Amino acid sequence: MKRIGLLTSGGDCQALNATMRGVVKGLASNLDELEVYGFDDGYKGLIYGDYRMLSAKDFSGILTRGGTILGTSRQPFKLMRVPDDRGLDKVEAMKQTYYKLRLDCLVILGGNGTQKTANMLREEGLNIIHLPKTIDNDIWGTDMTFGFQSAVNIATEAIDCIHTTAASHSRIFIVEVMGHKVGWLTLHAGIAGGADIILIPEIPYDIDKIADAVRKRNRAGKGFTILAVAEGAVSKEDAALPKKELKKKMEENAKKYPSVSYKLEAELKEKLDLDIRITIPGHMQRGGSPCPYDRVLSTHMGSAAAGLILKDEYGYMVGIVNGKIKKVPLQECAGKLKMVSPDDQLIKAAKRIGISFGD
Ligand code: F6P
Repeated sequence: MKRIGLLTSGGDCQALNATMRGVVKGLASNLDELEVYGFDDGYKGLIYGDYRMLSAKDFSGILTRGGTILGTSRQPFKLMRVPDDRGLDKVEAMKQTYYKLRLDCLVILGGNGTQKTANMLREEGLNIIHLPKTIDNDIWGTDMTFGFQSAVNIATEAIDCIHTTAASHSRIFIVEVMGHKVGWLTLHAGIAGGADIILIPEIPYDIDKIADAVRKRNRAGKGFTILAVAEGAVSKEDAALPKKELKKKMEENAKKYPSVSYKLEAELKEKLDLDIRITIPGHMQRGGSPCPYDRVLSTHMGSAAAGLILKDEYGYMVGIVNGKIKKVPLQECAGKLKMVSPDDQLIKAAKRIGISFGD
């Protein structure tokens, strides 16, 4: 008999359900008796003891369903050790729920912040398995996170649609792509969508270089330009500021502009007398059905997590490296961000075919 707790935490993405299905089906086919406790809305459910007993039936027919059947919430890691407004010690409360239900382990699906809390729970003595979810693909220790490829598909489709209208009107289009502090999603969707300029946080941009790239296209008879811009993109000028001043500048920018696209638009308007439009696909990028790649990845990772549980091996994130499942000790990966290297082969390839990164 195994008693498993399941929770999904942080921003949702495609393939959360597909991954949980992989875990539970992987266990159910190997165990006569299995009890699955699904916690509501992420760590909140674990803190306040809100859970549902789930049966194999709950995991049937959810391979293609977006979102999460458990619900999710953001519970910032930095606040986990801070008592809630009723004075409750959240860490102790989570441990109590775990022990009260006599769980054998807790399977936690989430991104970087979620992983830090998962590692803290491991340090507190709980048996933990973490599964890397996020459209940002910024989790260290795995080549790929589930959700990423589905989001690439959606952001690419947005750029594809913008292409036809941009060309018809000879306009400059800024397509703002999610990704938090990293540029993986923008880099991949930008290349897949044939963007002319790609701006990512890892390569701060020079507005003059961007204006030059647009002028060069115009001289070549291409009246339109598409910029795929990561929501976390930053100018060279801002990036050069000391950490404290940069934080202040970012706060000022946030007051002045709804997002980086509007700042970029204002900067470009000072350099170019051209028609500029902004498109922000936003949370659409996290929504809907997982793409086939993510369904396969989730099934692979979920089933691998079941394999670890059957062997009572805990304290790992299930990652994928060079196409092979890898169990990564949580203490090795927690707190590390996987960023795009400006020297990445893919960046070099994109530059070689004429894509500007504004550097
Ligand atoms: O981490 C996933 C993500 O979609 C980021 O790309 C984005 O910055 C953030 O979450 C948006 O968060 P929220 O759903 O809280 O607006």
